[in-house]
Amino acid sequence: GATRYYTFNVTLQKVTRLCTTRAIPTVNGKFPGPKIVTREGDRVVVKVVNSVKDNITIHWHGVRQLRTGWSDGPAYVTQCPIRTGQSYVYNFTITGQRGTLFWHAHVSWMRATLYGPIIILPKRGVPYPFPVKPYKEVPIIFGEWFNADPEAIIAQALKTGAGPNISDAFTINGLPGPLYNCSSKDTFKLKVLPGKWYLLRLINAALNDELFFSIANHTLTVVDVDAAYVKPFHTDVVLITPGQTTNVLLRAEPDAGCPAATHLMLARPYGTGQPGTFDNTTVAAVLEYAPPGHIKSLPLFRPSLPALNDTAFAANYSARLRSLATPDYPANVPRGVDRSFFFAVGLGTNPCPANQTCQGPNGSMFTASMNNVSFDMPTTALLQAHYNNIAGVYTTDFPVAPLEPFNYTGTPPNNTNVSNGTKVVVLQYNTSVEVVLQDTSILGAESHPLHLHGFDFFVVGQGFGNYDSSKDPAKFNLVDPVQRNTVGVPAGGWVAIRFFADNPGVWFMHCHLEVHTSWGLKMAWVVNDGPLPEQKLMPPPADLPMC
Ligand code: C2O
Repeated sequence: GATRYYTFNVTLQKVTRLCTTRAIPTVNGKFPGPKIVTREGDRVVVKVVNSVKDNITIHWHGVRQLRTGWSDGPAYVTQCPIRTGQSYVYNFTITGQRGTLFWHAHVSWMRATLYGPIIILPKRGVPYPFPVKPYKEVPIIFGEWFNADPEAIIAQALKTGAGPNISDAFTINGLPGPLYNCSSKDTFKLKVLPGKWYLLRLINAALNDELFFSIANHTLTVVDVDAAYVKPFHTDVVLITPGQTTNVLLRAEPDAGCPAATHLMLARPYGTGQPGTFDNTTVAAVLEYAPPGHIKSLPLFRPSLPALNDTAFAANYSARLRSLATPDYPANVPRGVDRSFFFAVGLGTNPCPANQTCQGPNGSMFTASMNNVSFDMPTTALLQAHYNNIAGVYTTDFPVAPLEPFNYTGTPPNNTNVSNGTKVVVLQYNTSVEVVLQDTSILGAESHPLHLHGFDFFVVGQGFGNYDSSKDPAKFNLVDPVQRNTVGVPAGGWVAIRFFADNPGVWFMHCHLEVHTSWGLKMAWVVNDGPLPEQKLMPPPADLPMC
């Protein structure tokens, strides 16, 4: 493969949206940030220079980082942050992946403005496995715009125990579109030619909202999620959680009666939290036919989207995603399981500190946990502690099941307080792992997009209610389950994933709703080296930032 070099200079740039101007952290002055374009098998080398006052790291979301954990990017997990005036070179190879991923800052809420696409083309000369050749490929990246500084918003929420203020708009390619005040000129327009096929590379980089997406009068064909091909299927609406990517084919077919008509594309949340805790506004972009019409006012078609809390749609949509599972693209699903885990994920509370008033549930502080443990970020990177045998940074007693299981769909427990700690699970190299993720519903049923670093996993089963280990595994799909890096734990339900721990290092797993991560819905896996040289983590680069 080739080597692709990039320089990412993180600088402040004045950006105006919704008639509010803010100097926001950007890469090379661009918002959203620049595209990385690469091929399967290529090496990518990115020098990140931090020229802002905040700490920075960049994460290459979904890139497997085989043996290159030092380049993964989550702050205090695989590296300490890049301080003001410093730089760090990320260096990794794209192995066994093709499709769309994205990069984003991975410290506090810095990813609110620091994100951009990663386009992974197939190896040179290898065609797409779908029958049409796209005339054009277009990234469609969803984000959130805040009129206030997102760092101030989360700092305030963590201090008071309250839920953070929601964003002021969603964006498509950085633009809120005509349904917001003071925003019509900030509308993304996709000009298309009748009869041509387009490959839209959808990326949800929003901080806190899962999204429905649809284009008026056009059917979408899903062909790839999280840089893994799927069996193509048609849908009018795509559901995409933060951390997920979806490639869809679109055939430009103008309206027969009015070939120059304009079609809106809309995205709006799938929101399962309590109303008021998520932004329920709508971002619009425009699909425009060329050549442009000669009539003055053209019909504008508008798609309809599922209801905000349409969990049935979410479950059905997820069930349609299947791996290609062909000889060229086999699904290497673990059939046996060496280690099996049950993680209950959800919100909870911490008691309010003495001499303070808190604005969380019943005067407590909001928190979030896995198996009753809210994860405390260490001050030394976990990977450095693991590699250099530094004691006292983490403990290896992450509970493999909740301490006190209860009926997750029944009455929540009286005591909603959780414990805190920096706890990890240690795995031997190449262990086959199964994790059942169960929504606890303690403060109400809620969907959680769980993201695993360092691996793609197979989604072998999902269901509503309590997971039943005596009945549910019999229904698992071990033939063509979808392969991905981020999965929605169904609101009021569970999902089961499997993967081989074939990547030595320390790998973060967390809810990709940034507020839940901030509250502690995260943990890490330590995967030990295997016996062979090609099964060992590489040594750290000389410029690795120190804490
Ligand atoms: Cu998209 Cu831990 O990251």
